Amino acid sequence: MDITSKHKVYVTRKIPEPGPSILKKHFQINMNPGVDVLKKETLFENVRDVDALLCMLGDNIDAKVMDAAGPNLKVISCYSVGYDHVDIYEAAKRKIIVTNTPNVLANATADLTFSLILTAARNIVNADRHVRNGNWKFGWTPDLFLGYDVHGSTLGIIGLGEIGTLVAKRARGFDMQVIYYSKTRKRKMESQLDITFVPLEELLRRSDFVSIHVSLNKDSFHMIDESKIKLMKKTAFIINTSRGKVINEQHLINALRNKVIAGAGLDVYESEPISRSNPLTQLPQTILLPHIGSATFMTRSKMAEVAANNIVNFFNGRGIVHKIN
Ligand code: DGY
Repeated sequence: MDITSKHKVYVTRKIPEPGPSILKKHFQINMNPGVDVLKKETLFENVRDVDALLCMLGDNIDAKVMDAAGPNLKVISCYSVGYDHVDIYEAAKRKIIVTNTPNVLANATADLTFSLILTAARNIVNADRHVRNGNWKFGWTPDLFLGYDVHGSTLGIIGLGEIGTLVAKRARGFDMQVIYYSKTRKRKMESQLDITFVPLEELLRRSDFVSIHVSLNKDSFHMIDESKIKLMKKTAFIINTSRGKVINEQHLINALRNKVIAGAGLDVYESEPISRSNPLTQLPQTILLPHIGSATFMTRSKMAEVAANNIVNFFNGRGIVHKIN
């Protein structure tokens, strides 16, 4: 397909440079200047007659949005690696290409995973609050904020894709023993990274830290529920930087309340944003982040570049590199 400046692109929320500049060079672009998810009716209105849609998490791009856009819509570019907010089957039926932004955000997300591991294990947030709230009364104390060792412990990685692999690499620096579970066994990675494949149940039994790196789909939905959490050590932590719905959140809350495991470091939730009344916010053994795995200046800018170029490449026929469906 030839690129023409007549192609219309709608961007559902403000993205950083160079995304807007790349798109403006080639298309008529309309970008929501805000960062909040648009009301459904506004989204319907704004996507009318567009040739391409650049969307992101929280947008819920379903058949109704595709209907509202009309027959010109040819490409949906996700400003994310995850694409569970797009009905990819509906898109495929309509021959709409869906793309994402892999590679560029894996390192930032692996870094954040490690911060969650360290923060949860060493009580960092509670200790910081203790100091700020003026509760630090006795200087150095033998039992103040005792935590768990990260070095030398066992890390269980569920899902050995890009991010899981980079988490495994970081774990070597901490002399951790790394075991992993993945739908398909990655033998080459096992020798490269000195990691061991184990069945999911064994991983849960043996790990001191269980870190989740699978994408959300019907197989991974509530993959971690009460029966799985029960297998974990009482001293173990669960870390999730993938998608909230991989864990049955109510089961996790029950397990934390009953001290079945030691704690959780979460960047993602079943429903986002979580409400202030979500019991997770009341538990001292949780670290709760607002879905910021990829939130570094550099990474978000690279994501914007890739998401914009995915649209450009589609229309100039250079071939879609990051095609999902
Ligand atoms: C993704 O890209 O899917 C992350 O969850 C947000 O950057």
